[in-house]
Amino acid sequence: MTSSNVVFHHATVTRERRNKAHGHKSSVLWFTGLSGSGKSTLAHAVEERLHQMGCSTTVLDGDNVRHGLCGDLGFSNEDRVENIRRIGEVTKLFVEAGVIVLTAFISPFKADRQKVRGLLPHGDFFEIYCQCSLEVCEQRDVKGLYAKARAGEIKDFTGVSSVYEEPVKPHLTVSTETIPLEDCVDNVINFLVSQGKIRAPSETV
Ligand code: ADX
Repeated sequence: MTSSNVVFHHATVTRERRNKAHGHKSSVLWFTGLSGSGKSTLAHAVEERLHQMGCSTTVLDGDNVRHGLCGDLGFSNEDRVENIRRIGEVTKLFVEAGVIVLTAFISPFKADRQKVRGLLPHGDFFEIYCQCSLEVCEQRDVKGLYAKARAGEIKDFTGVSSVYEEPVKPHLTVSTETIPLEDCVDNVINFLVSQGKIRAPSETV
């Protein structure tokens, strides 16, 4: 739904001017994967590296956003759809502000990831699949949630009682199951360089 009687105001400080001031292009690194697949860990580690390179960044993380902006949402299919819709809109604002946005949400449905992609200008949204098997995520069970889900204490738990639709053609797949964290970070940084969004680390001060 669109609000009525609202006229869009055009900024004079444009995304292009912000990108120039920041010395890099803004974009979205959309990390998707099962709970415990390492999305947040990787997103924050990549952000750390980008920050050291002087980039303007932010991480939007499911566990944090669900305490505020999406604090009213649960884990039914409908609520997950709304969760990702809101994040998509926030992401768009950050990209317009010249920021590299790293998101860490399970985002289990292909259609929702596709919608977010459609919200952003072509070439600015990158789906990064944190590939880690359910078995390994469950073994790790960092937050103890898989055990609770198996015991029936948490319903609609992704991978156990709610679906995760694997990306079909992600821009990048990172095997967080087998590859050490710093190597995964290198993969993502090299990818951003290859897309012309940031300069190679050796070229930055
Ligand atoms: S999403 O499906 O809507 O994208 P989101 O990434 O925001 O999910 O939140 C997932 C996090 O919420 C998990 O990492 C886990 O810590 C917690 N969580 C709590 N209940 C559930 C559930 N039923 N399914 C998945 N994650 C859950």
